[in-house]
Amino acid sequence: MAVRVDLNISLDGFATTTDQTPDNPFGEDWSRLVGAYVATRTFRERVLHDTSGEGTTGVDDEYAKSYFAEIGAEIMGAGMFGLHSFPDDPDWRGWWGDEPPFRIPVFVLTHSVPRPSIEMAGGTTFHFIAATPQEALDRALEAAEGKDIRVGGGATVVRDFLKARLVDQLHVAIAPILLGRGTRLWDDLRGLESDYDVTADTAESGTVHLTFRR
Ligand SMILES: NC(=O)c1ccc[n+]([C@@H]2O[C@H](COP(=O)([O-])OP(=O)(O)OC[C@H]3O[C@@H](n4cnc5c(N)ncnc54)[C@H](OP(=O)(O)O)[C@@H]3O)[C@@H](O)[C@H]2O)c1
Repeated sequence: MAVRVDLNISLDGFATTTDQTPDNPFGEDWSRLVGAYVATRTFRERVLHDTSGEGTTGVDDEYAKSYFAEIGAEIMGAGMFGLHSFPDDPDWRGWWGDEPPFRIPVFVLTHSVPRPSIEMAGGTTFHFIAATPQEALDRALEAAEGKDIRVGGGATVVRDFLKARLVDQLHVAIAPILLGRGTRLWDDLRGLESDYDVTADTAESGTVHLTFRR
């Protein structure tokens, strides 16, 4: 069992911008940041339910496939789930439609509990919890049936898990773009790399896939 993170970041280390508005809930630069991932065949099939076979099939797609492989439970922050974008909507069910791509239990960290769990089509259930990273990990481990746990994001939650030294495998897909603003992944993590072996692959899109393995 491993605790895994997969994130798209910019060359200057930002994992998200903070310019989201109700009219533009992903922000102006989102498509530049995640463009190579969203273009993959795997993302198109798994997230967009596009069975046409379209999408890239190179290095980016290999990483997209491994993103979903062997994960038994996911942990994400209130921001990634969308609670910060739609704080007044008690019926908000995430960004991913009726059949989200996770197909596993997902633990959403939020202080706005109690909230009832939401069972979605395809095997995803969202549970809302307030917990320390270690407590959330323990809940996820119980649910994961021996498979890996992914800390899905966003940057705030991933950094909390990195600071607590709970991440076994960190994969960052570094897009060749400069965002200049947003939430940085690497702040306050000086020397993090000393816990890991690091490998790198460059994709046709210019994305550099760096993987830190404990
Ligand atoms: N680049 C990528 O690959 C990637 C991946 C995923 C997401 N994202 C993007 O990242 C953005 C969200 O990231 P973010 O850093 O703003 O937020 P986030 O990490 O998703 O969520 C942070 C929030 O989660 C809640 N929380 C965190 N720890 C908690 C704990 N221990 N107990 C209870 N609640 C806790 C708090 O919200 P409350 O106090 O309000 O409950 C906190 O403000 C989104 O725009 C998303 O699209 C990017």
